[in-house]
Amino acid sequence: MANKWLVAVAAAIGAITSAWAADSAKPIDATLTIRADKPGATIDPALHGQFMEHLGRNVYEGIWVGEGSSIPNTRGYRNDVLAVLRKLEVPVLRWPGGCFADEYHWRDGIGERSKRPHRVNTFWGGVIEPNEFGTHEFFELAEMLGAKTYLSVNVGSGTVAEMSQWVEYITSPSQSTLANERRANGRDKPWKLDYIGVGNEPWGCGGDMRAEYYADEYKKFALNIKTPKDNTPIEVASGAYGDKYDWTEVLMKEAGKHMGALSFHQYTLPTGKWDVKGPALTFNENDWIMTLKRTLEMDEFVRKHSEIMDRHDPQKKIGLYVDEWGAWYDVEPGTNPGFLYQQNTLRDAVLAGLNLNIFQTHADRVRMANIAQMINVLQAMVLTDKEKMLVTPTYHVFEMYRPFKGASMLPVELNAPQYTQGEMSIPAVSVSAARGKDGTLVLALINTDPTRPARVNARWSGASARDFSARVLTAPAMNTHNTFEKPATVQPAPFKAAKRKGDAWIIELPPKSVVVATLH
Ligand code: AHR
Repeated sequence: MANKWLVAVAAAIGAITSAWAADSAKPIDATLTIRADKPGATIDPALHGQFMEHLGRNVYEGIWVGEGSSIPNTRGYRNDVLAVLRKLEVPVLRWPGGCFADEYHWRDGIGERSKRPHRVNTFWGGVIEPNEFGTHEFFELAEMLGAKTYLSVNVGSGTVAEMSQWVEYITSPSQSTLANERRANGRDKPWKLDYIGVGNEPWGCGGDMRAEYYADEYKKFALNIKTPKDNTPIEVASGAYGDKYDWTEVLMKEAGKHMGALSFHQYTLPTGKWDVKGPALTFNENDWIMTLKRTLEMDEFVRKHSEIMDRHDPQKKIGLYVDEWGAWYDVEPGTNPGFLYQQNTLRDAVLAGLNLNIFQTHADRVRMANIAQMINVLQAMVLTDKEKMLVTPTYHVFEMYRPFKGASMLPVELNAPQYTQGEMSIPAVSVSAARGKDGTLVLALINTDPTRPARVNARWSGASARDFSARVLTAPAMNTHNTFEKPATVQPAPFKAAKRKGDAWIIELPPKSVVVATLH
């Protein structure tokens, strides 16, 4: 009798569990209209930019190993990392900081390498900065990658004269002493300087300044950036963090007419707290949704800073450059806390896609974004362990999104339910759409729900979309990641779950996935 009762209870529990499982696996439905008849701004390729600071193993070991290294290299740059970065087509590289920029003196990094001074990197771990990687090495790297160059110059502990001389050293075709010094150091032709950032986070590590004070400093520096007419960099004022809208207001009012762009920084911390941010690898579904919810705040920040800029600059001449963004977790246990080394999982891939979708949607104002940082630091593209190397899930998203660069954004009308976990909800689907110069339609779709597929009924108004070809990035667990032992655990795969129905495409996104499709 007792046994019969137990069997009945077990059967009932089984039925409930499988009903729940079936329900949790049932796709959510979304409808999407892509307005190919209303093309918007061009997506500046610089929206997929990178940031490389003298921090941890970003420069040293990450890309620069020196000519004498046993790691295979080309004139000191490691070959394996060069190869994967070339595939990524890095559009722009910001260097040398970050906070480090405000203690960097460019003369330390030129001339014979063995004679360059050793300094203490006071911001990042107190380690010795050997200055082996300096101006020549940076510009050569940018040329090897085909990337535009973005210098951030020292305002915190530097002078206007120091900056002007650096700019002359880099850009002057003349026979001036500085131009000839560059030649004597091995570079005849001037380099192309595409962007120049005046300081970094002047409200924080860059000098703890008031907005009014920095606006005056900015003008003093900006008016002393003197270059040949065919090599004029876009001048970037240092902007706000998060919701510091008053900073944007003051900068636009006081210095707007002297700037080509205003920067903006925003990091995603799962907990929202700087002392305990949350680990990169061990997290549950609550942490997953909380992290994604926080990252989606980028949309509000970008909109509100843009609204302020619109009031001062209705013609949108000044770009908003999100020149530092990404996930910031607690460092990997056992690593130097000053090196900001963190692993990178499927959660980071989804987070990267959500941010790229936001930037691309606001391409009329957001004309550059630089994820922090390129190698071995924060939400990196590449991780290295001495001679070993891997590319991260975030790298794969940047690689998959390449067709968006230079395309025209297309507005979308999306009707999708929320994904809810506990008390938190976020949109279950995120979209970015564009049309390439050759007419190709590009579509990125993200399913933020880690357990349920999403069925998207997509149609294009003003274009007919045939020949669907796509790749998907997903993985069995929210925290699946690549390791040096198994570097290809997370990687894109061909995606076939799309069917044509009349003039629509029914696309079934797996749970926790990023899909990028091109259609002709
Ligand atoms: O990316 C790490 C640091 O974060 C940068 O040096 C600084 O600009 C920001 O606070």
